[in-house]
Amino acid sequence: MSYVYKLRGRIDSNNAKQFESEILSEYGKHGDLVLDAKELEYISSAGLRVLLKLRKMQDELEITNVSHYICDILEVTGFDNLLTVRTALREVCIENCKLIGKGGNGSVYRISDDEIIKVYTQNTLPESIENERRLGKSAFIAGVPTAIAYDTVKVGDSLGIVFEMVKGDVIASKFMNEPENFDMYAKKYAQLFKEIHTIDLSEKGLPTTKQIYTGYLSHLDEWYDEKELECLKRFIESIPEKNTMVHGDFHTNNIMVQGDELLIIDMAEISCGNPIFDLASSYYAHSLNPRRSPDSVMRYLNVTADIAIRLWDVMMRYYFDTDDSKKIEKYNSVIEGFCMLKEALIPAIWVNMPNEHKKYAVEDAKKHFFSRSEELLEKLDEMLG
Ligand SMILES: Nc1ncnc2c1ncn2[C@@H]1O[C@H](COP(=O)(O)OP(=O)(O)O)[C@@H](O)[C@H]1O
Ligand SMILES: [Mg+2]
Repeated sequence: MSYVYKLRGRIDSNNAKQFESEILSEYGKHGDLVLDAKELEYISSAGLRVLLKLRKMQDELEITNVSHYICDILEVTGFDNLLTVRTALREVCIENCKLIGKGGNGSVYRISDDEIIKVYTQNTLPESIENERRLGKSAFIAGVPTAIAYDTVKVGDSLGIVFEMVKGDVIASKFMNEPENFDMYAKKYAQLFKEIHTIDLSEKGLPTTKQIYTGYLSHLDEWYDEKELECLKRFIESIPEKNTMVHGDFHTNNIMVQGDELLIIDMAEISCGNPIFDLASSYYAHSLNPRRSPDSVMRYLNVTADIAIRLWDVMMRYYFDTDDSKKIEKYNSVIEGFCMLKEALIPAIWVNMPNEHKKYAVEDAKKHFFSRSEELLEKLDEMLG
């Protein structure tokens, strides 16, 4: 670990000489330094020249806790290219703020008329939070209808992300409270699901779905033998490459209604790949799970199992542009097969899930997935082309 040198107050032509001799003497004593800018108020060109000198002596020079003001100075002078700049996280207090939503990863509070903050549970890794912010930003820039993401902030001992506040409800509450409007909202919801699979996300800095799925395989040694792992790997590799948006968690609690428009939130799992991955995840949420354990549906989707199942039917008919029930049944069976692939990976996806649930998922996948893997790829080709 490098020695941390604290920068303090103002550094300008009045004290740059003294600053230089002090910092170089610390370098002489400790070797590579990391700079902490928490108490740095201002730095002029004279001070920056000293940093440049130090930078030439070290392979990398990291400067942490950088305020927005100092960050601006580093950016306009190009020093952000020479130094590794880590900005200080803003601290936000949520006392007296209204709790407006809850999900599996965190709680959402309204902090102003235009902004909310998603506060993550304490066991969420800082990398995953940063990842969600980065993915949300990339998706927004690529044209995905979603809330604007601002900065990562500190909320007491937890971390949060500030987002634009969507002025409306999750679509789940429309399905629950406005049964007379079910058809209208179901159609919009189905349209959005189909539409996201026309958004090209290639070269937008997003991971591919296959990369994510293949990554899970390295955490499954205790659940499968070598042959089974190899089969899973080959299967994932054989799924045809596509470049469309895959949300990964499309359900009634992650879609919000703002005026006439639907917005997608919760971008933690977004990637670029074949839409079959999304069809499979949403089949699990709207069809398989509601039939298996109807009582759990309200907790995840905020709608009843019955509503979820009706919605899936509308989504399928719209997606494949057909009212032919036989065809729909056939497609559902293919999608269920791909859903079993995700089920096979569950111990790696939901690491905090109780062991008996993981065991159930793995056994189910062993029963229903491996024997069908060849057939599924052929049928996928017929179904999505
Ligand atoms: N930008 C937003 N504007 C308004 N409400 C939001 C916003 N983002 C999230 N919410 C509310 O908070 C809930 C949980 O947020 P979400 O991002 O889905 O968290 P999780 O990852 O825990 O599922 C949502 O279902 C919604 O009710
Ligand atoms: Mg959510």
